[in-house]
Amino acid sequence: MSSRKIRASITGVYGYVPDYILSNSELEKLVETSDEWIMTRTGIKERRILKGDMKGTSIIGTKCVEGLLEKTNIKADEIDLIICATVTPDMFFPSTANLIANNIGAKDSYSFDLSAACSGFLYALTTGAQFIESGLHKKVIVIGADKMSSIIDYTDRKNCVLFGDGGGAVLLEPSKDDTGIQDHILKSDGSGAEMLCLKAGGSLKPASPETIKNKEHYIYQEGSSVFKFAVTNMADISEEIMLKNNLTSDDISYLVPHQANKRIIDATANRMGIGSEKVLLNIEKYGNTTAGTIPLCLWDFEKSFKKGDNLILAAFGGGFTWGSLYLKWSYNSN
Ligand code: ACO
Repeated sequence: MSSRKIRASITGVYGYVPDYILSNSELEKLVETSDEWIMTRTGIKERRILKGDMKGTSIIGTKCVEGLLEKTNIKADEIDLIICATVTPDMFFPSTANLIANNIGAKDSYSFDLSAACSGFLYALTTGAQFIESGLHKKVIVIGADKMSSIIDYTDRKNCVLFGDGGGAVLLEPSKDDTGIQDHILKSDGSGAEMLCLKAGGSLKPASPETIKNKEHYIYQEGSSVFKFAVTNMADISEEIMLKNNLTSDDISYLVPHQANKRIIDATANRMGIGSEKVLLNIEKYGNTTAGTIPLCLWDFEKSFKKGDNLILAAFGGGFTWGSLYLKWSYNSN
C-alpha cells in the first residue's frame, strides 16, 4: 500500500456573475463620486448586480455548481460535501449550502456555510481539502459567493463603489500525483470587528425600527484603517507561505489575490517580489465580490494555467480574517 500523502486537487472551476453592470458612471449619478476617484483609489470600473425580488446568494451558488457539474461530468449524487463561503446567506438558516444542494439535487451530500468574509473562500477551500486529505471524501464542492448589493447602502459613497455580486465554485478530488493543495496559513483577529462589520440583524442587535433608521443593516467599514491592516497582513502572510515552502519569486507562476483594492494587491505582489504579469486581476470588471473574488479569478484565468503551475492564493477581510494558500495546479485547460 502506498504511503503517499493524499492531497486535494482542484479538478474543475466555474464562475457566475449576474448580467446587470453597475458602472462608475452610473454611480456618479447616485452619489458624489467620480470614475477617476474610484479607478485611482481602487482599480474598479464596474461591478455586477443581481437584480429582482427574492433572488439571494443561493442563485449565484447554484449557477456555479450547475456549470461545474456539467463541465466536469459529475452527477449531483456523486458529491459528498458542499461548503459555501458567504456573508450574505439567503437566510440565517437553513444554510445557503443546504439550499444549493437541494437546487442541484445533491441528495447524498451534506452541506454547510462558512463565514469568514473576504477570506471565506480560502477558509472553505482549506476546510474542504482536509476532508479529502483525511481520506473521508472523494468529491467536495467549495463555493465562494456573495450578493453584496443586499447589504450596501447606495447613498454611502465610501462603500457602494467597492462591492459587487458574484461567485465561483471548485471541485476538489484526491490528487493522482503530487499536484494539488500543498500548504496553507490562515489567521484571524476578532478585534477587527470594530472596523468592519454588519452592526445589526444578529443576536446581539436584532432588527428593530431603530436599527433600520440608523442604517445598521448595511456594511460598516472604516476604510482607511482596514486598508492599513489589509496591506500589512496580506503581504506578510504571502511572504510567510513562500518562506515556509522555500519558494522564490521565480518559482511562482501566479498570485491569485482577493480583489478588494488594486493598491492592496500591488503591495502584496511587491513584497513577494513578483512582476505584474504574474498577478491575476479582474477587480476592474467585478469589484469586491467578497467570498466570490478568488474562485471568479480562477475561472477567468483558468485557460492560462498549466499542470504543475505554482499558484499562491491570498486574502484579507472582515473579522479580521486573512490567509494564503499554495497549490500546484492539477490540469491543463486547453
Ligand atoms: N468618491 C469620492 N470620494 C470619496 C469616496 C468616493 N466613492 N469615498 C470616500 N471618499 C473621500 C472620503 O470622504 C475622504 O474625504 P475627506 O478626506 O474629505 O474625508 C477621502 O475620499 C479619502 O478617504 P479614505 O477613506 O481615506 O480613502 P482611501 O484612500 O483609504 O480609500 C478605500 C478608501 C478604497 C475604502 C480604502 O480604504 C480601502 O480599500 N480599504 C480596504 C478595503 C478592504 O480591503 N476591506 C476588506 C475586505 S471587505 C470585507 O471583508 C467584507
